[in-house]
Amino acid sequence: MASLTLPSLCWALLFLFVVVLAAQAQNTITAEPGQAVVLPCRVPSDKIMQGMKWSRADLGKEYVLLFRDEQLDPEEQHPSFKNRVDLQDRKMNNGNVSLVLKNVTTADDGSYNCNIFNKVTKSWESINTVSLTVSGQTGGDTEDGSVGLKVGLIVSAVLLVAAVVGFLIYRKHKQQHQCQNSY
Ligand SMILES: *[C@@H]1O[C@H](CO)[C@@H](O)[C@H](O)[C@H]1NC(C)=O
Ligand SMILES: *[C@@H]1O[C@H](CO)[C@@H](O)[C@H](O)[C@H]1NC(C)=O
Repeated sequence: MASLTLPSLCWALLFLFVVVLAAQAQNTITAEPGQAVVLPCRVPSDKIMQGMKWSRADLGKEYVLLFRDEQLDPEEQHPSFKNRVDLQDRKMNNGNVSLVLKNVTTADDGSYNCNIFNKVTKSWESINTVSLTVSGQTGGDTEDGSVGLKVGLIVSAVLLVAAVVGFLIYRKHKQQHQCQNSY
């Protein structure tokens, strides 16, 4: 019995781990300063008309891009995004609300949220989160450096977890064989 459950557990763990890594890679965009990036997001197309917003947690009330009443609303757009953002597909076909951010700098590092307005709860609902990491120095200040450091720490943590999980899987496999040999 154990000889069946232990390997399947290993494989399940490995599979889960790969899925998590793939999901993480898909939602992390890296770029060099000056490049344009696309932050992907797809929402239920029937809900766009109620409002769509790209936000970043540290911006507070201001946003990256807001679409409501059938047009883009620049009123409380964070100044750093003025004339730098656009929708990849202006018609938002099939709920495609992917964001184009031009001329990125290290100050653009962060987690971007794609939201739609929920008419029932009258609140913004997050659909997708995309992390942006801009590498290299563009004469940024120390604040930029600390963001970069945080990203580096997260990457290191992920690698450490990967190593530990890999080791555990390896050890389980080894024990498995030892079990089989001893019986
Ligand atoms: C969104 O629209 C752009 C521009 O038309 C296109 O290149 C991109 O592949 C679309 N993305 C999705 C997920 O449909
Ligand atoms: C890109 O950003 C840099 C720094 O913010 C600025 O000096 C430069 O003029 C910008 N380039 C374009 C094409 O907007």
